[in-house]
Amino acid sequence: MDQHAAHLLSAADDADAGAWLDRRDAVPAVWARYTDLVVERGFGSWIETVTGERYLDYTCGIGVTNTGHAHPRVAAAIAEQAGRIIHAQQNILYHKPGLLLHQRLPARFPGLAPGERAALFLSNSGAEAVEAAVKLAKAATRRPAVVAFRGGFHGRTHGAMALTTSGVKYRGHFEPLLGGVHHVPYPYPLRNPTGRDPEAALDFTMAALEELFATTIYPDDVAALLVEPILGEGGYVVPSDRFLPALRELADRHGILLVADEVQSGYGRTGRFFATEWTDAVPDIVVMAKGIASGMPLSGILARGDLIDSFAPGAHGGTYGGNAVACAAALATLDVIEDEGLLANAERQGRRLLDGLRALAEGHGCVAEVRGRGLMIGIELADPGTLAPRPDLAKGLLHEAFDRKLLLLSCGTWSQVVRVIPPLVTTDDEVELALRVMGESLDAIGA
Ligand SMILES: Cc1ncc(COP(=O)(O)O)c(C=O)c1O
Repeated sequence: MDQHAAHLLSAADDADAGAWLDRRDAVPAVWARYTDLVVERGFGSWIETVTGERYLDYTCGIGVTNTGHAHPRVAAAIAEQAGRIIHAQQNILYHKPGLLLHQRLPARFPGLAPGERAALFLSNSGAEAVEAAVKLAKAATRRPAVVAFRGGFHGRTHGAMALTTSGVKYRGHFEPLLGGVHHVPYPYPLRNPTGRDPEAALDFTMAALEELFATTIYPDDVAALLVEPILGEGGYVVPSDRFLPALRELADRHGILLVADEVQSGYGRTGRFFATEWTDAVPDIVVMAKGIASGMPLSGILARGDLIDSFAPGAHGGTYGGNAVACAAALATLDVIEDEGLLANAERQGRRLLDGLRALAEGHGCVAEVRGRGLMIGIELADPGTLAPRPDLAKGLLHEAFDRKLLLLSCGTWSQVVRVIPPLVTTDDEVELALRVMGESLDAIGA
């Protein structure tokens, strides 16, 4: 063991996995836990614990490790950059990986017309990027309000949590929250009061927006419509493909900016680079994080045209934003996504999983819906007649899968949805294995 790490553990501890397990209580319970595994290493779709057990990781670190754990090209880029300079602060220095990323990522802006440009602003986490997007929209429009969608998750910083309504735990007890934030229902076909048809759910949402503008706030006071193209934490809900175009039309009518929060749905997760690209709607601002640097803390916004110049120098920023090592990881991540055809793999494996899970669901009345796009898949558990959410069954499914060494997460307001988020590198054999385990797990919980 190298001497710099000696304070972390003794040589005896290293040989004794139990010593690591004993240390877990020091981590505060605010990190609500899915497992008590202590990890030794990860590779591709797999993690290995300090006790030598291997698990198929279809949590992907909550949708982050899209290129798989410790992809050799990403790891090499990180090591190489760390050996040159780690922190070349953005206000003080330019660094090569950052300069390259500021050229390369704007070209990924969804639906950019030929000759149109976009610009990149980098920060560290999804919530921080959401804050940047909302601040930029306010700076650009000089309007005070933001409209977001009920069930949305946009982060836990004080501003972002005012936008978040996927669960009361994220905002209850923290009043007063940021003002000027309004919510309307997300088009959630399964839980739409006017029927299960996606188009009916969309009509319900659009009517709620019109009603908001008629009863509560003038649209010309609204800076931004903030939307997840596919609802993430709120339940992996896929809306009608007309949703984003309808928001685009509404936004244009009232001079509002359309902000797509692609923190969870972006970076190839759905089989397109951004989920917005499944429609022809062009947002004004795109928010990114999670998959952007394969696990290094990096996030950002892409802003269309000259929007980014609405920020006066110094109006936004941060000590660590656009860190050199994180940018090197981001460049390697883009290389891997492109060179290994990961968008196509996400679409193909996603289709296999979706079809396979739908077939499995047929024998299980409490599976209310299997839905998703690419490798962003949700299994909603509910009572067949009443559609009452069944978080107990979702939890049971997670536990049964865990016992069979498959890691899954839940989501949804009532934790009633099991989400399946494999890395984009997942293979045919791994998908087969996951389907077999999920089939056995559904049988075991008697859903
Ligand atoms: C859509 C969306 N926006 C924002 C966030 C916040 O990101 P972070 O946890 O990195 O702050 C998340 C996190 O899950 C998310 O899913």
